[in-house]
Amino acid sequence: MKCAIPIIFCILLIGPACTLHAQRSAARPGDVPSAPHPKNWKDTDGRFINAHGAGILYHEGVYYLFGEIKKGITWQVPGQSWEDYRVPAGGVSCYSSRDLQQWKYEGVALSSITRPSPEGSPASPGTGDASHDLDTGRVIERPKVIYNDKTGKFIMWMHVDAKDYSYSQSGVAVSDRPEGPYKYLHSVKPNGNMSRDMTLFRDEDNKAYLIYSSENNNTMQVCLLSDDYLSPTTTYSRILVNRRREGPAIFKFEGKYWLISSDCTGWSPNAATYAVADHPLGPWKEYGNPCTGPGADTTYGAQSTFVLPLAGKKNSFIFMADRWNKLDLERSTYLWLPLTIEDGKPRITGAERTNF
Ligand code: DGJ
Repeated sequence: MKCAIPIIFCILLIGPACTLHAQRSAARPGDVPSAPHPKNWKDTDGRFINAHGAGILYHEGVYYLFGEIKKGITWQVPGQSWEDYRVPAGGVSCYSSRDLQQWKYEGVALSSITRPSPEGSPASPGTGDASHDLDTGRVIERPKVIYNDKTGKFIMWMHVDAKDYSYSQSGVAVSDRPEGPYKYLHSVKPNGNMSRDMTLFRDEDNKAYLIYSSENNNTMQVCLLSDDYLSPTTTYSRILVNRRREGPAIFKFEGKYWLISSDCTGWSPNAATYAVADHPLGPWKEYGNPCTGPGADTTYGAQSTFVLPLAGKKNSFIFMADRWNKLDLERSTYLWLPLTIEDGKPRITGAERTNF
C-alpha cells in the first residue's frame, strides 16, 4: 500500500509549470491543445482534472470530456499473478469545453456507490451491496458517451469489473443531458463474451458499435448496438484475433476506420499499433506502431484511450492517452498529441515537447 501524496504538495511541485501552461492557454477554438500531457492540467476552478481512460462527446459546439475518477489510496490486490493495483472506483467525471483548452468541471456524471462503514453508519450514497457494479471496491473504467438522435438520450458505456477483473462486463447508463447525471441501467457480457477495455463508435449512418477486449484479452470484438444504443445486438465480429490488444481508440477518415490499440501489460506502457478496415465490423488489418522517434516503444509512456476528431477540421485529430502511475493511480496524468493521416498512415506528432 502507498499513501497518496497530499494535493498541496503536488501544487508546490509543479508551480512553475502552471505558469507556463497558463501562458500557452490562449488558443483559438479548434487548436490542438499543446498541454494536456502535464501533471498540471487543471479545470477552470484551478482543480486538477480527474478524468482517466477518457472519451469525448462533441455535442452542439461543446466538447464533453468523461473519465474515471481516481481518488484515494492505491493498493495491490493480493494473490494475483500480475500487478493488480487498484484505487477506489470514484465514478465518472464530466468536464466541458468549447476550445479544448479551458475545461469547466460539470460534476460527477455517474456516481459510484460507497459501502456503509463497518460500524453501520452508511456513507452517502450507500446500498451496502458490495456486489453492485458501481461499488467503490470494484472497477469502473474507460467511460465513453454517444448521443442518440432518435431517442434524444445520451448513452454511456463503460467497463465494469470485480477487483480481480474476473467479472468482465460492459455497463450502460443513460441521461437526458450530456453532462448527466446518468442513470445506471445494468451490465452485460455481449453475446456471452467477456468485455474489458472498451470504447464506443457512432458512425455517420447513426449505427453505433461497442469495441472491447474479449476472450480473456486475447481477442477484441466489435458489436453492433441496438438502435437505442442500450443493448448489444447479435451482430458482432472477432478482430485482432489472439493479438492481446487493449486501450481501443477508433476513428474514421476518408471512408476508412482506424483503430489504435495498446499491448496488454497492466498499467505499464507498451508499443501501440494501428489497424485499418472498410467497415467497423471488419475485416481489420493490423499494421505497425503509429508513434515514431524516442519513446515510441512505450507510446511515450502512455496508453491509448480515445482519438478525437476536431470539429470543422479535416484530417485533424487528437490522440488521447493515459500516463498511468501504477503506484499512485490518483496521480496518473495525460498525454494528448496531434494526429493526422499522412501517406495512408497515422502520424502522431509533438511528443518531443512532452518530456516523457
Ligand atoms: C490496462 C487497461 O487498459 C486499464 O484500463 C486497466 O484495466 C489496467 N490494465 C489494469 O491493470
